[in-house]
Amino acid sequence: MRTARPGRRRAVFALCVVVLLLVGEDRSKRRVHDASSFAFGWTHRAYKSILKMSPMPSAPVDSTNRVSGSTQAAALGELLFFDTSLSANGQVACATCHDSKRSFTDGQRVSVALGTGSRNAPTIIDSAHQRWLTWDGRADSLWGQALHPFISPVEMGLTRSEVITLVGKSDPLSRGYREVFGRSIQDEPIDHAFANIGKAIAAYERTIVSSPGMFDDYVDALRRGDARAVEQYPESARRGLVLFVGRAGCVRCHHGPFLTDGEFHLVGVPDAKGQLPRDVGRLQGIDVLLADPFNTSGIHSDDPQGEQARITRSLIRQPEMWGAVRTPSLRQAAKTAPYMHAGQFATLLEVVHFYNTLEGAAALDHHAERMLAPLRLTSQEETDLVAFLESLAPSK
Ligand code: HEC
Ligand code: HEC
Repeated sequence: MRTARPGRRRAVFALCVVVLLLVGEDRSKRRVHDASSFAFGWTHRAYKSILKMSPMPSAPVDSTNRVSGSTQAAALGELLFFDTSLSANGQVACATCHDSKRSFTDGQRVSVALGTGSRNAPTIIDSAHQRWLTWDGRADSLWGQALHPFISPVEMGLTRSEVITLVGKSDPLSRGYREVFGRSIQDEPIDHAFANIGKAIAAYERTIVSSPGMFDDYVDALRRGDARAVEQYPESARRGLVLFVGRAGCVRCHHGPFLTDGEFHLVGVPDAKGQLPRDVGRLQGIDVLLADPFNTSGIHSDDPQGEQARITRSLIRQPEMWGAVRTPSLRQAAKTAPYMHAGQFATLLEVVHFYNTLEGAAALDHHAERMLAPLRLTSQEETDLVAFLESLAPSK
């Protein structure tokens, strides 16, 4: 450098100035662009998360279930779903615990039918969007899941062949079966007929989806840049959304249109009785799923080489899965108290307060979810998060 002639140095300097000016101009252009796409005070990152949360896509057709998109199968599935005769005491239907008047839950801490279960009944609304079903993901399809309650001793308490016999005895059910599957149920091998019953129920469940909430109207307004519509969104919910996608870190696990990553975490919710959590969660869920002849890679699947079957086959159980449960969708949260896998919390405020303080969080050892730390939110901020969660639920 020391040898450089002054003329050369001036030229280099001039070039640098030009480059800086060009970069500067490019930046300011981008800023103008930013101002239009990340409007209404949102940062680029938050805005991107928010756009991914709405609108909700329609429920996918399940390739492992050949009647997944059939309206005739859905009509049969609906009959099956509400039929109490398909239980050991003639009094329990799917709808007993997934009551349409309670957003398809039972409002109980843990479900009670023939016996007392150990988990809270989640809603079936939007379940068709889940890759793994139930808290521990022990089913990898809606139809495979639907078979479990029939033969669970604390739920409907039947055997596979009893289910088939009872369906055969009912006029509307056996007629529906023949219409959908082309054969009389009595002529079918038991397990094949049993799988088909699950498939019809799944076709019905696929039609049960959330309608949009105030939050969706807000995102739509943001997209359109409609300032007046944007203002309709309650201020408290908006502040809650800022926290949700920002400082409170909720969006790390609760993202996308159903506000779930569809995966399994141990957040350390204390047991309802204040004891250490004992639910083995995903660790056992994987074992049950892989041993299940009705999983998507088995002989009853209509797409045993498909994507879901491949993912299921590649599952590996790991000790970290102990106690982990699937991140629930938050779309219906406002309507489906109590919360968490064993109904530990009665209100959304209690849930948010737990995340805020991690009060009573099970002293988690190396299995702990390292993503969580107390948030130190004010009580106003807790209320704001709740207002946001409430804005996800259907407005009607
Ligand atoms: C005794 C109450 C009870 C009955 C009866 C019952 N369920 Fe459930 N359901 C539950 C509980 C509890 C869970 C959570 C189970 C778990 O995670 O271990 C659940 C989970 C589910 C899920 C998973 C939802 C998700 O998003 O992961 C679906 C779908 C479902 N049930 C459908 C059905 C169908 C179909 C029937 C009838 C064949 C049925 N249930 C009968 C209580 C019940
Ligand atoms: C590490 C991932 C993770 C993070 C971060 C997280 N959650 Fe969760 N969330 C879960 C899991 C897993 C459950 C189920 C826990 C259980 O039942 O034990 C859950 C349950 C919930 C529930 C109960 C839903 C129901 O139907 O029972 C609500 C509400 C909720 N979370 C809201 C939030 C909010 C608000 C935040 C941010 C303050 C947040 N979550 C942060 C994973 C997470």
